[in-house]
Amino acid sequence: MDKFIVHKSELSGAVIISGAKNAALPVMAATILTDEKCIIRNVPDLMDIRTMIKILECLGKEINFENNILTITTISNKSFVAPYKLVRTMRASFCCLGPLLAKRKKAKVALPGGCVIGARPVDLHIKGLKALGAEINIDKGYCQAKTNGLEGAHIYLGGSFGSSVLATANVMMAAVLSKDETVIEHAACEPEIKCLGLFLKKMGADIIGEGTSLLKIKGVKKLKGCEFEVIPDRIETGTFMAASIATRSPLKIVGANPMDLISVIEVVRNMGVSVDIDKDQSIFINPKGKLKPANITTLAYPGFPTDLQAQFMACLSLVEGVSLIAEKVYPDRFMHVAELNRMGASIQKSGSYAIIEGKNMIYGAEIMASDLRASAALVIAGLAAEGKTEILRVYHIDRGYEKIENKLKKLGAKIKRQK
Ligand code: UD1
Repeated sequence: MDKFIVHKSELSGAVIISGAKNAALPVMAATILTDEKCIIRNVPDLMDIRTMIKILECLGKEINFENNILTITTISNKSFVAPYKLVRTMRASFCCLGPLLAKRKKAKVALPGGCVIGARPVDLHIKGLKALGAEINIDKGYCQAKTNGLEGAHIYLGGSFGSSVLATANVMMAAVLSKDETVIEHAACEPEIKCLGLFLKKMGADIIGEGTSLLKIKGVKKLKGCEFEVIPDRIETGTFMAASIATRSPLKIVGANPMDLISVIEVVRNMGVSVDIDKDQSIFINPKGKLKPANITTLAYPGFPTDLQAQFMACLSLVEGVSLIAEKVYPDRFMHVAELNRMGASIQKSGSYAIIEGKNMIYGAEIMASDLRASAALVIAGLAAEGKTEILRVYHIDRGYEKIENKLKKLGAKIKRQK
């Protein structure tokens, strides 16, 4: 297993943002809905994308992936099984369920199970697909679904923690080929869902309202292949913003879509960090001067993303004063707290809240990455800490960040990967 050795660093220069993993994955699943060729550009080259390629290959697709471009064609439409050995490594694979049901009329997709960030149920996915007329059984760890033809329905898709990104993706993809009209209320509004909607429309789907909480989908008979470009990764963008703040280093962030980070930019500006946006959408972030603590509540989009909570906790650990984080999407997503405290941070967890007493210094230590975004937080903490930080289990970070250490090294970070 690889580990990162990180030393305190000052960063400078510009970083180019990759395509969004969480947008690319459902778009890839949506190619199940057509037999024609799809070309998808700006796909980040990382572990989760490689896993989705393997799943689609099991499902009869032939895939070429070069220079961040995926070319996907269909060899066979027979298979309908997404096996556990692949699904267990990545929950997003569960969004093959909707398109398989719509196109191949049956699906057997392993249940993804829980993970370190919380329980992560799939009840909303199942509720939505059942409303469209699917017969669904949970048997021996698999979700088995079949239909004689899906039919439109009026579906309320809100759950105890608000909207669900992948449940919206699943139901949307199932509805595009069903009979009649489907209305989804309390749909997820995340930019990644809007991106999926635009891809489906390019394939010939009839959708109104992508990117809003009310989706109207008229089923069509057939979808065609198309060319499409995936949006920039807003979570990678926010991660570099957090790295800039923690190391007090001005950075230019190129190729992002700042409008997708409006809540994050608001928090950052309130901390006293200067954020300027150029005509070409480049973000200039300058955290010089005394910074103020922050109160952050994670919420569904357009709220502050839960996927940036850990990274901002790392930078708030180094902002004097008391900051508060309320985690409203995954109340147990605090595995990074203990690791940050081992580095000298002072964070107290109470239910779904974390109280951070900012220090002017934290110290390098041997620490363990627990999940994808937490590992990014630990890298950020390592870059800001005095001395040497060793981060074990960095395979988590390889799931979701393209060439992370190369990008950081180009900015001057002292980071090295060791086998
Ligand atoms: C997606 C993102 C993930 C991000 C999350 C929230 C991808 C591949 N992953 O995950 O990085 O952290 O959105 O922004 O895009 N819930 C239910 N029942 C369900 C489904 C979800 O109660 O059937 C709950 C979840 O436990 C959670 C909340 O709803 O509390 C939001 O989860 P959801 O939006 O579904 O997350 P994912 O789509 O799995």
